[in-house]
Amino acid sequence: MKILSIETSCDETSVAIVENGRKIITNRIYSQIEIHKKYGGVVPEIASRNHVTKLPYVINEALEESQLSLREIDGIGVTYGPGLIGALLIGLSTAKAMAYSLEIPLIGVHHIEGHIAANFLQYPELEPPFLTLVVSGGHTHLVRVTDYQTFEVLGKTKDDAAGEAFDKISRVLGLGYPGGPEIDCAAKNGDPMAIPFPRVFLNKKEFDFSFSGLKSSVLNYLNGKKMKNEPFSVNDVAASFQMAVVEVLVGKTIACAKATNMTTICLAGGVSSNSLLREKMTQAAALEGLTLYYPDPILCTDNAAMIGSMAYYNYINGEISDLNLNGIPGLKIGTRTKVK
Ligand code: KG4
Ligand code: ZN
Repeated sequence: MKILSIETSCDETSVAIVENGRKIITNRIYSQIEIHKKYGGVVPEIASRNHVTKLPYVINEALEESQLSLREIDGIGVTYGPGLIGALLIGLSTAKAMAYSLEIPLIGVHHIEGHIAANFLQYPELEPPFLTLVVSGGHTHLVRVTDYQTFEVLGKTKDDAAGEAFDKISRVLGLGYPGGPEIDCAAKNGDPMAIPFPRVFLNKKEFDFSFSGLKSSVLNYLNGKKMKNEPFSVNDVAASFQMAVVEVLVGKTIACAKATNMTTICLAGGVSSNSLLREKMTQAAALEGLTLYYPDPILCTDNAAMIGSMAYYNYINGEISDLNLNGIPGLKIGTRTKVK
């Protein structure tokens, strides 16, 4: 089964064709990062307008690259939440028009379930059950995946998402947007032990996260230095901040896996391309005898192939969306769409 999938929930306009949920035939991504960079973050209205103008071209590129005609497509997968409502609606209305005119199924996909499914594209042997750490610009969730459609949130952030914290700290350090890759790079030349930023909730028994206290702590450190006119190293702040985030993410994930007797861990979402997170999680998993999977960076950040994978599993489990499917900005993980 070949699914053409569309992802427009934030600032990437992406179209993919995926076969049987596991094989990427094409995965075209048009990133709007350069457009939003000068504003220091994504401007929703500008994102929507660019999705409108770019999406038809990205669809054509995907078809050309795959050398498939529209008649060879068996279903249309599309992100319907969570995300920016204007941006979601561009992908969703295009997907509906295609599904209706081609008389093929429309399959709505939860963006975060898509991020989790990115692992299926890279690891043919991977099957549920497993525990996933989902770390993106909007989410920091520990999710138990018991089968292809059953997602249970075991812990989540009480305030900022990990990616959001990376983006904010990058901005105050003058490192630019998106912050994650900038901090990852600056941290390579800094000392992660230079400043003892707090490891929030690390010793707590629950699996929730909090990053706003860490963010305030970094801001207080920088303000203190500026007020006293003392020099500071941007690279040291970046490295120390990154280590504080990573230690908590790794500590909580391993503790959660042990508490729930999960032997396989997956990483998903934009922050899972962070080099220190990958390194520390690999070490910790090896130490505990756990199997760890994480996708290539291109499958960690927003892309339509992951949506195509999840769409396949929704489809084979009978979850075909109605043409009334609407965009839901705050869609909860594990929500199943109305079945046609
Ligand atoms: O999954 P994603 O592309 O979009 C959302 O669904 O939010 O994640 C984007 C987030 C941004 O906050 C970005 O700064 C972060 O992922 N990110 C990283 C890295 N690459 C991207 N964070 C830390 N280290 C990285 N190397
Ligand atoms: Zn995402």
